[in-house]
Amino acid sequence: MHARAALQLLAAANLAAASLPIIDAIAQVQPVTTSTTLQAYYYAPPNSSTSRLGPATTVAPPRTLTYTQTDYTPNPTVFATACAEISSAYSSRLAVYSSQIASGVDATYPTRVPVRPREAWDCLYSIPLDVDLTLDFISGVAKYLQFQSTIEYLKNPPANSLQDPVDIIGSLENLADQVRSGEIAHHIRFENAFRKLLQRCHDGHLGLVFNSASLISFRGPFTLISISPDAIEKPKVYVEKDLMEFELEASYITRIDGYEVEAWLAEFADYGSSQSPDARYNAIFANRDPGSDGTFYTLYGWYPGKNTISITFSNSSTYQYDYRAYARWNNALNWTGIRTGSDFYRNIVLNPAYFQVASSDQQAVAGTPDPSPTDGENVYHVHDKPRVKKRQMRTGVATTSTRPTATPTPRLPQLVYFNYPFMTHRVGPYVQDLNGIVGGYFLNDTIGTAVLDISSFAAADDDAEFQLQGFQAALTAFFAEARRLGSKKLILDVRGNGGGLVALGFELYKQLFPAAPANSYYRIRAHEAAQIFATAAEALATDKNTDALVELLETVGINNIDGDALDVALAIASGFSRQNTFDVNGKKPEDLATFIGPYNLTGLVNDTVSLLVENNLGFPLSDADISGFGSRANFTSSPQPFRKEDILLLSDGTCASTCTIFSELLKREQANVSSVVMGGRPNDSPSAHVGGTHGSRVLTFANLLSNSRRVVSLYPPETDEQEQYLIDNIPLALPFGFTYAAINFRDAIRPEDETETPLQFALEPADCRLYFSPIGFTDSVYLWGELSELKWGTNSNFAGCAVGGLQKGEGSTGYVPDDPETVEIVNYILQPLTPS
Ligand SMILES: *[C@@H]1O[C@H](CO)[C@@H](O)[C@H](O)[C@H]1NC(C)=O
Ligand SMILES: *[C@@H]1O[C@H](CO)[C@@H](O)[C@H](O)[C@H]1NC(C)=O
Ligand SMILES: *[C@@H]1O[C@H](CO)[C@@H](O)[C@H](O)[C@H]1NC(C)=O
Ligand SMILES: *[C@@H]1O[C@H](CO)[C@@H](O)[C@H](O)[C@H]1NC(C)=O
Ligand SMILES: *[C@@H]1O[C@H](CO)[C@@H](O)[C@H](O)[C@H]1NC(C)=O
Ligand SMILES: *[C@@H]1O[C@H](CO)[C@@H](O)[C@H](O)[C@H]1NC(C)=O
Ligand SMILES: *[C@@H]1O[C@H](CO)[C@@H](O)[C@H](O)[C@H]1NC(C)=O
Ligand SMILES: *[C@@H]1O[C@H](CO)[C@@H](O)[C@H](O)[C@H]1NC(C)=O
Repeated sequence: MHARAALQLLAAANLAAASLPIIDAIAQVQPVTTSTTLQAYYYAPPNSSTSRLGPATTVAPPRTLTYTQTDYTPNPTVFATACAEISSAYSSRLAVYSSQIASGVDATYPTRVPVRPREAWDCLYSIPLDVDLTLDFISGVAKYLQFQSTIEYLKNPPANSLQDPVDIIGSLENLADQVRSGEIAHHIRFENAFRKLLQRCHDGHLGLVFNSASLISFRGPFTLISISPDAIEKPKVYVEKDLMEFELEASYITRIDGYEVEAWLAEFADYGSSQSPDARYNAIFANRDPGSDGTFYTLYGWYPGKNTISITFSNSSTYQYDYRAYARWNNALNWTGIRTGSDFYRNIVLNPAYFQVASSDQQAVAGTPDPSPTDGENVYHVHDKPRVKKRQMRTGVATTSTRPTATPTPRLPQLVYFNYPFMTHRVGPYVQDLNGIVGGYFLNDTIGTAVLDISSFAAADDDAEFQLQGFQAALTAFFAEARRLGSKKLILDVRGNGGGLVALGFELYKQLFPAAPANSYYRIRAHEAAQIFATAAEALATDKNTDALVELLETVGINNIDGDALDVALAIASGFSRQNTFDVNGKKPEDLATFIGPYNLTGLVNDTVSLLVENNLGFPLSDADISGFGSRANFTSSPQPFRKEDILLLSDGTCASTCTIFSELLKREQANVSSVVMGGRPNDSPSAHVGGTHGSRVLTFANLLSNSRRVVSLYPPETDEQEQYLIDNIPLALPFGFTYAAINFRDAIRPEDETETPLQFALEPADCRLYFSPIGFTDSVYLWGELSELKWGTNSNFAGCAVGGLQKGEGSTGYVPDDPETVEIVNYILQPLTPS
């Protein structure tokens, strides 16, 4: 049935209908079932013959192959006690804390305790599988995943996208079959299979983290880095602390668990969230700017299948290192009362934790941090991004959590700080915003290059206030100083930038190019449920209601509306309304059907989509205006601070989400901005500077569920047929709890691309590629100086680029080195063992 016909049917029904089963289904999670019994135990070590690498021995005869001895046959007795033992470790740790506090010791509340990896896995493995609820979860989650913008493209990805085909819905059906047949007989195996399915899509906006990750996490033995002696020679992989101690004298790694090291890493990186294999490769390693431990250490949160890992070094020694595991807890989920896998299932798996962490409709956030759970701790050194914490607010607004209103003029706190420490850099920036999002530097080189260090487009603190205002003020102060100093060259460092607030991406672009248009087009899927949501949004946000809302917002501001006006504003902010969008001609789509279509895609992919639109950035839905819009409309006549030929974009391929909105604006509107990408696989091929998800808006499951609520409150179903129609189509509450779950909602599309391919599948190489050298890895200020000299000066220690080149004193020529046959994973597998 067509959505609109169905909804007309629903709308005709009596709106005063009382609570109906569908409403309960949205509002509640499934009741806890206690009847589940443990299935037969059987332990499933990774099936090496199904690994894409094949058995280790087919690579080359390994010098020392010891890892098999650590696989173990589980003993059902252990299963029965593992959770209880972990739980008592938790209780003991809390008891130690309590006694410390009682005796006046100033202890911090603990949030984790080390446990043995095998025991942690035994406990997880003892969680019973409930076939019926698991099947409910699978069919329920499919309705959320239908909103994933690329679901059809993933099945049939464009040839040069480096994406393996993934049929999400087909794979869910296979999972359901495996659960039914007993092939998947343990709950944790289901969770892992489901997470891996989403991870294989390599879209940082698509992911789900089950509650179990809040109770147990696994860690690698140490952090790794990939270092080239001179940034040009192919890099080698080192244990980070070895390199830090012995520099290039340290032995590098030649084999992991008997596999050639690059083969092992390529397989491991296949669970990373970036589209670009080089960005996924970079994510394995520790990073200094912004700080992260890398996935070799965080293991994507998974049990690695055994207790130890074997590493062979270039000095021919092979050592076994222990994996680690931690029992963890937080405000919502803890070990109290867990003695068995069944307790774990009841208290944790079925705990609807995500209802408590649900983000609101109001957050138009395009980027989110990597959803993998990580406690960021590194036993050798902690180099978490030390964001400057929210400082004391100076004005009356400091003590409340309400945001300032647009009118009357809010009393702002101090928005920028000068010469204050920033991240881990050895020198502080000239200026930074109050939330430590951006730092603006002037280098002491011969050129006087300016640098903007932006490793995120959002504050680390979710509750941070004045993000746009602070960012805006810092950029304004920085560009004014650049003018005063006569600084002519600019490096934009977006390494590690996984996105953030969309407004900040547009703000940076407008401050760089005040007069330039900032068009950024997108579309969403227009499947049945999207049509239903769009219909509901339209029912609230009619033209008339929208005009009235805008008038109201202009008088009282976004934070002072409630009741019907708030409902209209939320419907517009939902992303399913046409009211705050423009088509490619700059006009608001004239009616619902024009906006949502559905339009058929023509070409390789069979799907239905919405109209191509962009955000109306002047729509007053936020508490501050982007430069060039609304109250800051006259910003377009500000001087442009740098010529585009004088701008260098520095990335590590991670750039995702809002960062891709920003870099796409540069690319489409400002050809000739040059780019450099750092790191990547040691293959001497061109590498993408924008390698994270190009999706331009993420939606959490909580957000989608609130759309379902809107539908049901507007159109309560009256007949069984109506109810069944909604049950079959819209997302409802899921039986298993999770702490994070989201899909990519919007595909960014270039209007001039006739194939209308989502930019996720377009990997465009940087002009210049360099590997990390020891000093470039540890010292960003040094790296900026070297790049400035390489691009504009004469004193660089870099002899050029590892791949591509930078035109001296000119913009990018737009020349992209020939697309090599990008080196496939298989090349590493066939690579002979390097003599050691
Ligand atoms: C491992 O994979 C092989 C090849 O697909 C299969 O024949 C075998 O049954 C698998 N073993 C287990 C224990 O799943
Ligand atoms: C080999 O190199 C590793 C890594 O640097 C080091 O830990 C180990 O001690 C070395 N072994 C020998 C025998 O020198
Ligand atoms: C553990 O969680 C339960 C249920 O959420 C809560 O009642 C209890 O206070 C928590 N205990 C601790 C020690 O945090
Ligand atoms: C430049 O030199 C000044 C004076 O020595 C110092 O305070 C500042 O931190 C230096 N800036 C950078 C980016 O190195
Ligand atoms: C889209 O394709 C379907 C059949 O696949 C057809 O019924 C429908 O009319 C097409 N819509 C448009 C707008 O062309
Ligand atoms: C396209 O998908 C629709 C909906 O799944 C289906 O009905 C139609 O047959 C498909 N068309 C082609 C050409 O595969
Ligand atoms: C924009 O208007 C404001 C307030 O009227 C003024 O202070 C500012 O200088 C103007 N900016 C430009 C670029 O004209
Ligand atoms: C880019 O630079 C080249 C040479 O410097 C120039 O010919 C070309 O017009 C520039 N392209 C754009 C779009 O500005």
